[in-house]
Amino acid sequence: MTGKTAKRVVLGITGGIAAYKTAELTRLLKKAGIDVQVVMTDAATQFITPVTMQALSGNPVFVNAWDDRIANNMGHIELSRNADAILVAPATADFLAKLANGFANDLLSTLCIARQPTCPLLVAPAMNREMWENPATQRNVAQLITDGVVVLGPDAGDQACGDTGMGRMLEPDVLLGCLKEILMPASRILAGKRALVTAGPTFEPIDPVRGITNRSSGKMGYAIAEALKNAGADVVLVSGPTSLPPPSGVKNISIKTSSQMFDEVKANLKGVDLFFAVAAVADYTPATPKTQKIKKSTENMTIDLIPTVDILSWVASQNDAPFCVGFAAESENVVEYARKKREKKQIPMIVANSALEAIGSDSNRVTIIDEAGDHALTVAHKAEVARQIVSHAANLFLSGKRNQPVGVTSPALKSVKNA
Ligand code: CTP
Repeated sequence: MTGKTAKRVVLGITGGIAAYKTAELTRLLKKAGIDVQVVMTDAATQFITPVTMQALSGNPVFVNAWDDRIANNMGHIELSRNADAILVAPATADFLAKLANGFANDLLSTLCIARQPTCPLLVAPAMNREMWENPATQRNVAQLITDGVVVLGPDAGDQACGDTGMGRMLEPDVLLGCLKEILMPASRILAGKRALVTAGPTFEPIDPVRGITNRSSGKMGYAIAEALKNAGADVVLVSGPTSLPPPSGVKNISIKTSSQMFDEVKANLKGVDLFFAVAAVADYTPATPKTQKIKKSTENMTIDLIPTVDILSWVASQNDAPFCVGFAAESENVVEYARKKREKKQIPMIVANSALEAIGSDSNRVTIIDEAGDHALTVAHKAEVARQIVSHAANLFLSGKRNQPVGVTSPALKSVKNA
């Protein structure tokens, strides 16, 4: 990355022992061709000096909002205006609290709040385990995720205080990888590919005014459609009833019932490279929906339900099936049940999450399960989770890991579809 495409990152350092790792992080960022503007809090200067950071970044380091090296004392505007991203690493519990509540009482917090809406803000929390697990910190992190801040980590492991547990800052090379994906998304990795996504709940009529449905909001499916579009794919979204605005740049098909969803999937399957079954499809539907409203009586009532078609299994079983990604929303034994579902449906990849945590929420904690094993992602906004899921699926698809009997390893694969 050179010349006009060089990216500029504001690296915010707050006062935690992990601040020493930002020396290495700065070196890696520079090596990747990224221009680094360091801004430190007062407390951070107790852990690593501005002189060190200046020498490594090659740029003056700012700490004080009243620094007269910045024109008109407008540091918060000047420094954030030209940034392609702001990364705060380490982000202390105190700094997360400030950000979550919109405080702006030093240069770094002020420039975070003054950033352009298009400038991503990433934070890499680092703190002692108890501080991380404290309900106030967890509340603040949840708020930041809802606000669209990308929370990277923390990791589990040995801590400076002697404890072991969640709270370690992610390693500099991991942070660099995350930052690169945001600055230079594996952009248009799916250009020229076609993707079909199902999303939302289905509605199975009992009579003209009543029906069986579920609490799926459609947010994850819409986020997947958006992420696929951003990766360059031509996307068709078949969605059950939701209250979400349809994503732009995607062909939207609205359906109500599982049978309509199945019909639209069949009608749009030709030439599809990737199929994402994100919908919460009803497993049963009334055998004979009534044409008129059912009248109340004092008798018990039984509704005869018949199974619906498993759309994902059907797609995966087709000759020349697309690369299929399933979603398993479970209320218990989440990863174990999802692994079994992947095997049963004979699909290369499934995304497991807790139905109770995920439904309706803006954030999600998922585990991707594929032939290589389990990959737990950190909790993040659904848009960010979707980006990571699509990136994972795209890499598997492009490397030729097509639908295959689960357990058969990749050497058995003969061709790489359209790659
Ligand atoms: N799925 C589908 N068609 C169905 C049911 C499910 O395409 N009729 C897809 C979902 O979109 C999801 C995956 O199958 O990608 C798993 O759905 P889930 O409801 O978690 O599992 P089920 O197979 O329905 O099993 P169960 O409800 O018993 O957990």
